[in-house]
Amino acid sequence: ASGPDLVVVGSGFFGLTVAERCASELGLKVLVLERRHHLGGNAYSEVDPATGVEVHKYGAHLFHTSNEKVWSYVNRFTAFTDYKHRVFGKYQGQVYSLPMNLGLINQFFGKSHTPQEARELIASQASEIKSEDVTNLEEKAISLIGRPLYEAFIKGYTAKQWQTDPTELSADIITRLPVRYTFENGWFSDTYEGLPVDGYTAWLTRMADHPKIEVRLETDFFDVAEEFKGKVPIVYTGPVDEYFGHSEGRLSWRTVDLEESVEEVDDFQGTGVVNYNDYDVPYTRIIEFKHFHPERVKTHLPGRTVIVHEYSRFAEEGDEPYYPINTAEDRRTLLRYRELAQQEPMVLFGGRLGTYKYLDMHMAIGSALSMFENKLRPHFAEGAPLT
Ligand code: FAD
Ligand code: NA
Repeated sequence: ASGPDLVVVGSGFFGLTVAERCASELGLKVLVLERRHHLGGNAYSEVDPATGVEVHKYGAHLFHTSNEKVWSYVNRFTAFTDYKHRVFGKYQGQVYSLPMNLGLINQFFGKSHTPQEARELIASQASEIKSEDVTNLEEKAISLIGRPLYEAFIKGYTAKQWQTDPTELSADIITRLPVRYTFENGWFSDTYEGLPVDGYTAWLTRMADHPKIEVRLETDFFDVAEEFKGKVPIVYTGPVDEYFGHSEGRLSWRTVDLEESVEEVDDFQGTGVVNYNDYDVPYTRIIEFKHFHPERVKTHLPGRTVIVHEYSRFAEEGDEPYYPINTAEDRRTLLRYRELAQQEPMVLFGGRLGTYKYLDMHMAIGSALSMFENKLRPHFAEGAPLT
């Protein structure tokens, strides 16, 4: 058999969107290489046999978008439930509804406020530090929302997320800290939101289900690179520093340790996500997956539930890279890799690892659709150079 027309490294949303478009629209033969034992990248999920509950194996994934193109594209492969994401936060023995809103303000300050009264209260607390005087994340946060809300809802959580005291973090990590002066507590404010009716893996599998797409699992690109490099166009969605053998240094990432357990109760916490804002609680969040799919109650086994404690830390070699840290040094290193990537013949870099950028699913899909329209289609359909 003849070789592929295109090699895609990585079967996450970015790689599968590219593969699907090139196979369906251009009739190309696409070979997808994936080093894990499953396709789907970090959105992969599986049903936990002990509870019948779908577990997102690389952290909770909630789909949301306001991008019409992305929404109509994803609906070819899956229907969505009407799940609306809400997050609660524990602090000093109380549970609050997040993001910070009028309900939280009333509960936290122990009295009712009109929207106007709440605005005035927070503005006066925020006036303690002027925005032009801030030198670190703590001061920036206080200048935005005042000290009481900062100390309860930002300080401990941020310190745990970054393993760093917020007075030692750069002020530019946050540009805004939204406070809603209404009782609205939907976590996202996008036009569309929901979870795939029959799960992420079914959705991702349907994207790859095309006679011209072959997904080769447990295959590391670097073990077979010589077969393809310079011979066939490649879309690479792995870590950009790894592609170049870390020649310019390592880009830094945070990872999350996910400790999964089955609890012998029907309902552990009454909702999908609870943040733990107290600094002395070592985990940042607990996820209880059954609450993402209340419509599946009949397939969930009674008397048991699967939960995950999340612990955030700096990624070391061999850890899953989850969130780019993006220090000033990372930004300088990334520029050098971008130059190398630009010069690499017949290879396009994409996705969250290939661009060292946190991308939500809809952003990864949108960015892959753009790569298809702006680079891959012109190359394969019109003979434009691949750069
Ligand atoms: P990935 O999904 O990471 O896929 C890259 C693939 O490439 C992986 O399967 C990897 O194994 C493979 N690969 C890498 N190197 C090689 C190699 N050398 N050879 C072969 N294969 C290779 N988005 C949302 O919209 N909502 C959420 O709630 C949400 N929650 C998230 C929570 C966490 C903890 C994380 C980390 C991300 C979350 N995301 C969420 C983002 C979502 O996971 C990404 O948008 C999506 O993963 C991006 O897809 P991708 O294809 O770029 O990368
Ligand atoms: Na993914």
